Amino acid sequence: MSAKPRIFVTRRVPEAVTDRLQRDYDATVNTADSALSADQLVAHADGMDALIVTPPDKMGAELIQRLPDSVRAIACFSVGTNHVDLDAAKQRGIAVTNTPGVLTEATAEIAMLLILGACRRAWEGQKLLRRREWDGWKPTQLIGLELSGRRLAIFGMGRIGQATAARARAFGMEIHYHNRTRLPADQEQGAVYHDTPDQLLEVADVLSLHCPATPETQGFLNAQRIETLPAPSVVINTSRGDVVDDAALIDALKRARVAAAGLDVFAGEPDLHPGYYDLDNAYLLPHLGSATVETRNAMGFKCLDNLDALFTGREAPDRVA
Ligand code: DGY
Repeated sequence: MSAKPRIFVTRRVPEAVTDRLQRDYDATVNTADSALSADQLVAHADGMDALIVTPPDKMGAELIQRLPDSVRAIACFSVGTNHVDLDAAKQRGIAVTNTPGVLTEATAEIAMLLILGACRRAWEGQKLLRRREWDGWKPTQLIGLELSGRRLAIFGMGRIGQATAARARAFGMEIHYHNRTRLPADQEQGAVYHDTPDQLLEVADVLSLHCPATPETQGFLNAQRIETLPAPSVVINTSRGDVVDDAALIDALKRARVAAAGLDVFAGEPDLHPGYYDLDNAYLLPHLGSATVETRNAMGFKCLDNLDALFTGREAPDRVA
């Protein structure tokens, strides 16, 4: 019998991570890479010491209650932990870890892609070409919004918010932000702090959401707040879909009250609100924020660093519960 801890991994992971996993653990990977139901997850957890889970694996209280006693740790292959009921895990004495710090650059890059794609109408341009409907350059064709000189309003100025600000500055944008705590001047780098989220929205030529999904931020961008945005305004989301009231944003995009949106995350992924699909002013990506070789490897290695620590009696560096 193997003395190595037994790990179940709910999705395929990058090769370099698999190599280390197989070397150091008795690992079973869901190589079919399919979404697992609660029943399947509980069945796979049988006899396991730990699970590596991803954002689509909904680890609610009920599922956590049903996990076998052998499970001592859940390593989230993500920085976000809103898919895991941390209190339920704590009650069962199951340690939970995440992967902070290693997604910063990749996610900020996707935020810039969304800002550019939404402001410069990249989806409509792609569609025109691929449908072979482009009949040539015209002075008034697909006129977008220039980034230079526009105010980028960042809601949640953590690592990713700051990295997005650094990139946006290079595009000539003026940075405004709201954060629970004001940053020290050396980190603000000239960004204008707003005491309340609503004050921030009033100057948001481009609003970029970078807050975690919590009960407090659920539905943050609602119909009432949308009306406080300047016109035109552009909404960008790389945090979690739950932060946006989809019906309200779709309605505002349809009325052109919001000029465009760039979205990488959606409530109910992968079943996003159907209203988004046909909106030409919605530039949509399928949750690609962290999807680079470097970042996905680093996320996997962080899961393993945390499990290594837990299984050798040390404090896991990224323990959240
Ligand atoms: C995370 O780690 O929470 C991201 O959303 C995955 O890209």
